[in-house]
Amino acid sequence: MFQLVYISSATPGETISMGNILTASRRNNTRDAITGLLYSNGQRFLQALEGPEDKVLAAMARIQADKRHRAVVVLSAQPVAEREFGAWAMAHHDAAQDGERVVEQVGRLVANASPSVKATFEGFCKLRRAA
Ligand SMILES: Cc1cc2nc3c(=O)[nH]c(=O)nc-3n(C[C@H](O)[C@H](O)[C@H](O)COP(=O)(O)O)c2cc1C
Repeated sequence: MFQLVYISSATPGETISMGNILTASRRNNTRDAITGLLYSNGQRFLQALEGPEDKVLAAMARIQADKRHRAVVVLSAQPVAEREFGAWAMAHHDAAQDGERVVEQVGRLVANASPSVKATFEGFCKLRRAA
């Protein structure tokens, strides 16, 4: 099982449809046995992908080439013993819609993640809350 976590920013001027992104993601990820979490506030993305290494890397290559976002920075890419972000084809959390609740939800989702990945997610949530 392989886990990859990255952060990115929406491309200025692009109208981002989370619906479109999630529909394609869930279709492809279900096919590829990939699960994970996509956190966004419309401007920035933080995504965790988990699954077979070759599938995760192939998905990441597609995602990286996607012009809807830029400044993609991979924060961690490592083998994990088991899935740490739940069994969703792609869970989605939106800072604007979920407000405070999202911080708690993400906190629960990353409860089993490694300390560095956990700190990254929690830091991102706090940052967005303060912005
Ligand atoms: C922030 C963001 C997250 C994405 N996450 C995924 C994902 O988890 N899985 C996936 O297959 N595509 C994801 N995509 C979409 C891919 O970039 C690409 O458009 C898609 O995989 C193409 O699939 P298709 O050839 O079936 O249309 C994401 C795109 C963005 C901008």
